[in-house]
Amino acid sequence: MSAGPSIGHIGVLTSGGDSPGMNAAIRAVVRAATSRGLRVSGILNGYEGLLQDRLIPLGPRDVSNIVQRGGTMLRSARSEEFRTAAGRVKAKETLERHGIGALVAIGGDGTFTGAHLLHQEHGVRIVGLPGTIDNDLAGTDRTIGFDTAVNTAIEAIDKIRDTASAHERLFFVEVMGRDTGFIALASAIGSGAEYVMLPEVPQRIEELVAALRQAKTSKSSSIVVVAEGDEMGNAFAIAGQVKEHLPHFDMRVTVLGHLQRGGSPSAMDRVLASRLGVAAVDRILEGAHDAMLGEVCGRVVLTPFAEAIGNRKQLDEQLLAILPVLAT
Ligand code: F6P
Repeated sequence: MSAGPSIGHIGVLTSGGDSPGMNAAIRAVVRAATSRGLRVSGILNGYEGLLQDRLIPLGPRDVSNIVQRGGTMLRSARSEEFRTAAGRVKAKETLERHGIGALVAIGGDGTFTGAHLLHQEHGVRIVGLPGTIDNDLAGTDRTIGFDTAVNTAIEAIDKIRDTASAHERLFFVEVMGRDTGFIALASAIGSGAEYVMLPEVPQRIEELVAALRQAKTSKSSSIVVVAEGDEMGNAFAIAGQVKEHLPHFDMRVTVLGHLQRGGSPSAMDRVLASRLGVAAVDRILEGAHDAMLGEVCGRVVLTPFAEAIGNRKQLDEQLLAILPVLAT
């Protein structure tokens, strides 16, 4: 990408669902930018802060002691007004008023859809960092927060396994993933679950029931991990259907919910966020815009927003195939 106009001041924001590691990314952006002589403004509450002119100056010491914290020091939001053309005009005006030449937006597909529009309509230079636990963005092997969320889910499922085995029960554990099953598949493999229900894979209740009957012949407990967006319904709905086929099974449902979004980021997420945060500043100074930075096979790569949000990231087929083998 060709170098753009010189930039002396950049903005950074976090938007959409928060994810562990967003703070590490903010810290990296601020420290890389200031060490390269740029001023940095943190924009509070995502795009909403741009509309309401809620900016704070950020220097290296303002981001001390956050690399290990979940959540986001800049707070996050989903802005309805920013979805409108008039809202984006306001956002552009705020950036102009403060002399901000480029923006780092940390978030997921909704964040990048907005970023792409802001660039198309007003030429705003934005580079995105993939911050979402869902891992559903093309252009990066992992998103910031995914590893932590999977570890949190696995830790919880391990505990559920203890009580499930003690009572010879079947548990349905619902994990996050409104449209995608990345967290569900990784946490099912990592926790030794008997079955996984994923939005991407149409499944039949008969198959699930047969697998659970089979497991009951030799195992003290069974765990079915359900992605919240499964096409057969949420964990309660699926458990209800299974109960009709297996009325004698003692079963329970646990919804892990938002605890997967919080907590101290894992080592992997801290390192990923730090690496991408520094790279965002360097790529902006080289002229990058309208694109997301990600890590693919250990290398930092830039993917246009249109591709990152337009191409559906596929589940790992090999992981999918080994689950039934591991569950025997
Ligand atoms: O961050 C993405 C996600 O975790 C989805 O998997 C989930 O459906 C959604 O956030 C819920 O977010 P909220 O409760 O903030 O709307």
